[in-house]
Amino acid sequence: MSEMPQKKEIKSAKKGLKPKKELKIAKRSALPPFLALEVMRKATELAQAGEDIVHLEVGQPSSSAPDAVNRAMMEALKKTPAHGYSVAFGVLPLRERLARHYAEWYDVRPHTDNIAVTVGSSTAFALAFLSAFDVGDKIALPTPGYPAYRNLMQGLGLQAVPLAAGPEQGWRPMLAEMENWAELPDGLMIASPSNPTGTVLEDSELAEICRWCDQHGVRLISDEIYHGLVYGKRADTALNYTKNAIIVNSMSKYFSMTGWRIGWMILPDDLVAPVEKLAQNLFISAPTPNQLAAIAAFDCTDELDAHCQRYGQNRDILMKGLPAAMLGGAAPCDGAFYLYADISAFSDNALVFAEGLLAGEQVAVTPGIDFDPDNGHRYVRLSFAGRTDDMHEACKRIHRFVEARRSDAA
Ligand SMILES: Cc1ncc(COP(=O)(O)O)c(C=O)c1O
Repeated sequence: MSEMPQKKEIKSAKKGLKPKKELKIAKRSALPPFLALEVMRKATELAQAGEDIVHLEVGQPSSSAPDAVNRAMMEALKKTPAHGYSVAFGVLPLRERLARHYAEWYDVRPHTDNIAVTVGSSTAFALAFLSAFDVGDKIALPTPGYPAYRNLMQGLGLQAVPLAAGPEQGWRPMLAEMENWAELPDGLMIASPSNPTGTVLEDSELAEICRWCDQHGVRLISDEIYHGLVYGKRADTALNYTKNAIIVNSMSKYFSMTGWRIGWMILPDDLVAPVEKLAQNLFISAPTPNQLAAIAAFDCTDELDAHCQRYGQNRDILMKGLPAAMLGGAAPCDGAFYLYADISAFSDNALVFAEGLLAGEQVAVTPGIDFDPDNGHRYVRLSFAGRTDDMHEACKRIHRFVEARRSDAA
């Protein structure tokens, strides 16, 4: 076959012949690592070596997909068409169920033509950035925030401009800051509830952001992946306030289906055709059996709300049980399943703190620099999506760790 390397060529490569020119690796591929996953890799290695690790590093539910989804998957696998591609925007029954979900949860009715099923929300970001922005465009990014937004933007040649959303801003993006910039951004990316801070925007704040973006010609992307995971708050969709935003969501968090890789976008009319062409060429379709099975998840709210109640209990255990110094400057934690805790009383280097905690007490947490390269050295993110017993154990071990550091410093 013509594409196969010839034996002669392989031999010459073995002899160490130098190529005429160095093979190229794109500069834009030199992305920073996603530290949460690096910590998870180390923690998993230690667990495999027999260490008793408490995992607070990973942002994924410890529970599995609802039973009804697993059963629907078995049914989907019996149907021959389920083995093939779907159309790029996904199977119609799932898009219809998604449209109904918006009516039920938010009293808004998107058209199925505007709904695109994606391979998790992660590919939805790629589709959003590629369809709405050109190389060099600026996108304001509330910081601290989910690191993959920034890293993916860098990979696509976009400029992520940090928009402070730290303690001085009440952990939320302030529109006034952008008005002071020499140039307005082309886009604004928001997430409510936010990872890592758990900030939930009030409806009035969300409405104001949508209005501002529409007035200033700034394309809004609203990551709503943590909807359904709120503690005494309510998170509305940006779709209720603007027709121009790109809404992104996923089955990964509330629906407890991270590995199923099903997400979705609600697209403004002007981006339907561009996103469809990109999706056809980049991914063809999301996995068809998973799409068909996912439909059942929307009727499992009792089971899924029970998971959320457990996260709420886990949250309370951490809020009561962690050293007070870590909680005083912590972010609000009103949604998602993260506590962005302040470690500045114990260390000025979150990476060293996280490594020490893993090595010394076998508790895995994510250093804040993953979410905020400038100020994240003062914070670590603790995920409370895991088992309730683990939360008690984590508090005990973290107390022991910080006490030991205190006595070392004395
Ligand atoms: C804020 C946020 N958005 C998006 C994602 C990606 O989720 P997925 O690709 O599984 O839908 C995550 C994952 O942790 C996240 O925290």
